[in-house]
Amino acid sequence: MTGGPDILASLSSIEKMDPDPYSGNLFTYVYETGDRKLREIQHKALNMFYDRNALDFTTFKSAAFFEKGIVRFAKSITHADESVLGTLTYGGTESILLTVKAARDLFRKKRGKDEVPEIVLPSSGHPSWEKGAEYFDLKLKVIPIDRESKKANLESLKSAINERTALVVASAPNFPYGTVDPVTDMGQITKDRKIPLHVDACVGGFILPYFEKLGEKIPKYDFQEEGVTSLSMDTHKYGYSLKGSSVLLFRNPEMKKYSNYINISWPSYIFVNTSILSSRSVGPMASAWTAINYLGNDGYLSLAKKVLSARNYLFKEMTKLGFRSTAPLESSILSLYNENIDVFGFVYGMQKRSWHLEVQKAIQDLVPYNVHMTLSPIHDKLSRAFIRAARETIASPQDPAFKKLMEGISTGDLTVLMTMVKEGNINAALLVKLLEQIPEESAKEMANEIVNEVFR
Ligand SMILES: Cc1ncc(COP(=O)(O)O)c(C=O)c1O
Repeated sequence: MTGGPDILASLSSIEKMDPDPYSGNLFTYVYETGDRKLREIQHKALNMFYDRNALDFTTFKSAAFFEKGIVRFAKSITHADESVLGTLTYGGTESILLTVKAARDLFRKKRGKDEVPEIVLPSSGHPSWEKGAEYFDLKLKVIPIDRESKKANLESLKSAINERTALVVASAPNFPYGTVDPVTDMGQITKDRKIPLHVDACVGGFILPYFEKLGEKIPKYDFQEEGVTSLSMDTHKYGYSLKGSSVLLFRNPEMKKYSNYINISWPSYIFVNTSILSSRSVGPMASAWTAINYLGNDGYLSLAKKVLSARNYLFKEMTKLGFRSTAPLESSILSLYNENIDVFGFVYGMQKRSWHLEVQKAIQDLVPYNVHMTLSPIHDKLSRAFIRAARETIASPQDPAFKKLMEGISTGDLTVLMTMVKEGNINAALLVKLLEQIPEESAKEMANEIVNEVFR
């Protein structure tokens, strides 16, 4: 391949491999507003600042400027007082990893390095907490959530914590069911014992405050709860910025220090990182700052109104099609089950109609298989089309290709699925069905093999 025009032509055809991220046909991966002007101005900001390196925020002062502005806004919507300090990371997972690292080092300061610190996580918590525990050598203790409320079980929390607990996690909301953990009660339990409590508001941080303004009953989850010691909230989710940014807030400046990395001993310059990555583009920070300044509180409120309207409409209409919610509706997430149909077939049929949905696991005594939807403002405009497609999918006979695939899965024959994954004909939703038939360790190994195959 030589020369510019060829490369551009190639890029145009590579682009067609993906679903259109602006279409509104996706859930979870993109948070689309449908506002073209917002997108354009953010891409401009990204381009203007992409080649600047936040590694040295004393040279590239724009990095510190954007970070401070974004953190200030995040604090203004989380009841944070002056003493709260923040860090801008490249995403929710990075905010979580940094929190785990800070909690571990705080624990070590108090109790030394001989004991293994523990994290207590409700089962609905995001996998990056386990990833953090693995990376930084902490022990993860998973506690159950209540069947009806889909929130952390407080009695289990009380029995799980001990003198080795370095961190307790609550979600606002959790990803699978969209419910907000009982942060007030959890904070009372942890505060008395001087245990840090982190609120993972990666999903909710930039939308729940506006849902509340719109009259939704949202349990208290932020710094107004004294027990909350840190909180993460993703600008690249409901902050509507381009991918690559999240905010991590610490109530105690001392804890923020444990998240910083400073090296003054290597032979070169004084090395300071406030995040896990070192060299990183200022572009995503510029994009996040632009989104916040373009939208402001009024913009976020009006986008939250659209999300709420889409959620309520879709829930009402999906109920008519036999779906039920796995949990009380407390956020912008729907998780819906339908015991009269095969939800895998439903998701497959919807994908054929260009709607990309996820299937979540069935868990005994907790939930049947369910369909997951993270709603974006653009869905308000598209919700009628979605329901038409859903109605059509349910009324249509099962696709023979789907039948063949499911037969392959039930006999453990991976080849059909592998071919489809490789050809890009299927998303990962059906892997749930396949992998659950195999003991967990082997399933993990198999998933790992599939990943290697995909990238071969
Ligand atoms: C509750 C929660 N926390 C953290 C994350 C991780 O965010 P990211 O994908 O930006 O790393 C997610 C992602 O969906 C999430 O739902």
